Amino acid sequence: MKKTISLKDMIEYENLFKTNQPFFEEYKEAFDSVLRSGWFILGNNVEEFEREFAAYNNVKYCAGVASGLDALTISLMALDLPQESEIIVPSNTYIATILSILHSRHLPVLVEPDIATYNIDYQRIEDAITPATRAIMIVHLYGKPCDMDPIMDICKRRNLYLIEDCAQSHGAEYKGRKVGSFGDLAAFSFYPTKNLGCLGDGGAVVTNNKEFDSKVRMIRNYGSEKKYYNEYIGLNSRLDELQAAFLSIKLRNLDSINCRKRELAQIYLDGINKNFILPHIDPSFLDVYHIFNIRHKKRDELKEYLLTNKVKTEIHFPVPPHKQKAMKLLNGLNFPLSEEIHKTTLSLPVSTFHSNEDIKKVIGLLNEFHDS
Ligand SMILES: Cc1ncc(COP(=O)(O)O)c(C=O)c1O
Repeated sequence: MKKTISLKDMIEYENLFKTNQPFFEEYKEAFDSVLRSGWFILGNNVEEFEREFAAYNNVKYCAGVASGLDALTISLMALDLPQESEIIVPSNTYIATILSILHSRHLPVLVEPDIATYNIDYQRIEDAITPATRAIMIVHLYGKPCDMDPIMDICKRRNLYLIEDCAQSHGAEYKGRKVGSFGDLAAFSFYPTKNLGCLGDGGAVVTNNKEFDSKVRMIRNYGSEKKYYNEYIGLNSRLDELQAAFLSIKLRNLDSINCRKRELAQIYLDGINKNFILPHIDPSFLDVYHIFNIRHKKRDELKEYLLTNKVKTEIHFPVPPHKQKAMKLLNGLNFPLSEEIHKTTLSLPVSTFHSNEDIKKVIGLLNEFHDS
């Protein structure tokens, strides 16, 4: 019989009521103002958020879209590559990165991550390049930036486009420069659990290239700049006014959200014993810990043990993309490092509503976990 565990005193993994609570009053005012404006899609609030988010990331342009998946797909569409171009992508990413390549009618070429950082291993990229390769789609996974210098160097030498998947890394920095400002285009998700999350679905594409920006703007809106005149085979992927208004409020608090998550992460890093593999630290990377993951060979037992002791955890992600039923194209391939990560990774609570005591309780439990 399955044990039921009482919710009382449970340390939750996430609680979106609690993470949004500090902004309730401002959200209510924003809701009221949008309601009274009578304008709900692509209006002043979207334009204002686009300006603010471009400035935050130190890029020239930002276009709001309907989701992170759409931001990735539209970024690829804006490049206007020949059909079935090969796009290099990390083998341990979230499925959306790979879906965007398939939706834009290209071929994903999976490259293993660095087992320490969980980000694409730049040393393996060149072996995967063929005459059909047109772009590298990197992912700053869990909030940690990729090692950008060697990746930028490969793109330049091999004449490849670079797209950044920043869905998990709002505000992260590599050598003092914000992620999202390195690529030809970069895609963000504002899914509610993200460090910059809205109250529904949302996303954005940022770029320094005016031509890409104007294509992105058209593609998100039926391929049209002028109403009823269509220049591209577009989508309906627009950011709505309410989400943009909420996002402007959250954006003003993003640095303190990231700062708090980094503080909590530091408590883990200082307290967890050597039986666990901890996130890699590099002083030139500003990691925003969207996810704080550890690895352990008995991950499933550990997850169960923590739950029994009233700590909820998550797994990002339990099944690698090439083992997914939907990915028939990739099913026969072998990515041992990615598989090892998927088998051993566990994400610990690291949300802004968690107290230092919550984190210390998790550390105490981890350090008492006996795996024999
Ligand atoms: C790495 C990565 N890319 C893309 C996405 C897709 O974002 P969305 O859910 O907003 O479509 C996610 C969402 O979780 C993600 O984690």
